Amino acid sequence: MGKNDAVIQALRTALTVTPESAPLHKHLADLLMEDGAGAEAIAEYRRALSLAPEDDGLKLTLAEAYYRQSRADVALVILEELLHKPSPAAQVYLLAARAYLATGDGQTAADAYHHALRLDASLADADLAARLPAATPVTVKPESAVSGTVLDVASGGVPAADDVRVFVTAEESGGLPAVDIERPTVSFQNVGGMDKLKEEIRLKIIYPLVHPDIYKAYGKKMGGGILMYGPPGCGKTYLARATAGEVRAAFMAVGLHDVLDMYIGQSEQNLHAIFEAARRHAPCVLFFDEVDALGAKRSDMRYSSMRQVINQFLSEMDGVTTSNEGVLILAATNAPWHLDSALRRPGRFDRVIFVPPPDVPARAAILQLMLADKPTQSIDYGRLARETEGFSGADLCGIVDVAVEGKLRQAMQTGIPKPLTTDDLRAALKAARATTQEWFETARNYAIYANEGGTYDEVLDYLKVARKGKL
Ligand SMILES: Nc1ncnc2c1ncn2[C@@H]1O[C@H](COP(=O)(O)OP(=O)(O)O)[C@@H](O)[C@H]1O
Ligand SMILES: [Mg+2]
Repeated sequence: MGKNDAVIQALRTALTVTPESAPLHKHLADLLMEDGAGAEAIAEYRRALSLAPEDDGLKLTLAEAYYRQSRADVALVILEELLHKPSPAAQVYLLAARAYLATGDGQTAADAYHHALRLDASLADADLAARLPAATPVTVKPESAVSGTVLDVASGGVPAADDVRVFVTAEESGGLPAVDIERPTVSFQNVGGMDKLKEEIRLKIIYPLVHPDIYKAYGKKMGGGILMYGPPGCGKTYLARATAGEVRAAFMAVGLHDVLDMYIGQSEQNLHAIFEAARRHAPCVLFFDEVDALGAKRSDMRYSSMRQVINQFLSEMDGVTTSNEGVLILAATNAPWHLDSALRRPGRFDRVIFVPPPDVPARAAILQLMLADKPTQSIDYGRLARETEGFSGADLCGIVDVAVEGKLRQAMQTGIPKPLTTDDLRAALKAARATTQEWFETARNYAIYANEGGTYDEVLDYLKVARKGKL
């Protein structure tokens, strides 16, 4: 006979009078559990749950009861439902860790356990930890640790062995569609022009990583990111990748449209998994493309749930639960005006930088870079640059491709390979079209009518200069 017998009896009587009371069923179940009557307790928890089907705390308790009855498999069915909701409690992860371990899935158990600790360090359980497999990272950690002050930024040549792509498994990323972790071999020297932007990235992102002590000494808070915006094809993604190459960090490019899931709650989980993967691979440049997806009016997602996604993004970015040390955040958008203003606050994307179409010297530099490994004959880069007003980097890339194809076709016909000339490129140029103009048609309106705080002054300046150039 259990010590709670008398109370249990009283509760049963009470329940004959008010059988619809979930709290009474739960109370009864708790007492039965204490007395070791697991099967009966489970029946009572289930009754309580049928009366209060939205009570997640109750579901966790029921899962625990099953687990203690050696039914980890059933417990996991409940826990996995809870894990798919927005921001599951630390206890859910902890119990999931135990249940996964009991079913023989040690790796997932370890992940869940570490997740629980990140949310609530006081849940540490030495016995459990000892039974979990040691974490086996999928990738090689970069040799240069973030804390060391001698990150060799200057030496350009990155060993070929670094150029590996690591696949984050769905399991490692918490059920996320797989994300590539790259080790870029391009660095700033492969980016034509963009000097101001490079300097901005050095100051805000690279130096704090390389010289954390100096930044701390000046009381400069780290964190936050740079948001780049501008017409497509002008090097936003390319520069982000080169930033990673510059500090020999890992690079994760995430298209936010892919992350945002129409199932409520899944987007938050996806975001969390992405930040977690970046933290595991620090130093890492985490690049969010299409950030305007956060705040754009999406027909397939209710606004209230978008709010939650944005909040999740902000708390990840602020490093609320875990430090973002060694995680450099860059983002890009073609439509900054759709972005939620909360993302612009200090410590977040407080630097919003316009990436204009390349100017004459930048276009010359880009063409030079693109032709560097091809056979050429005295190319007049200055002339080509002057004749490609409004062309994006991607447009220039297209011109080079077309010219190369023409040359190849000739070589196939004549059997004699000949170097590319200025005329070849000018011929390709005639057939091409600059694509940046369209973007400015839209941007102009925002820059004139929605230029709060002068956000789009750079666009206005660009448009003014462009107009002067035409007169
Ligand atoms: N400044 C640049 N220097 C060298 N290549 C560039 C530059 N800007 C653009 N490119 C080329 O154009 C391509 C498209 O640029 P991308 O970064 O994808 O544009 P965005 O992200 O702004 O739409 C790049 O892959 C790169 O080959
Ligand atoms: Mg891009």
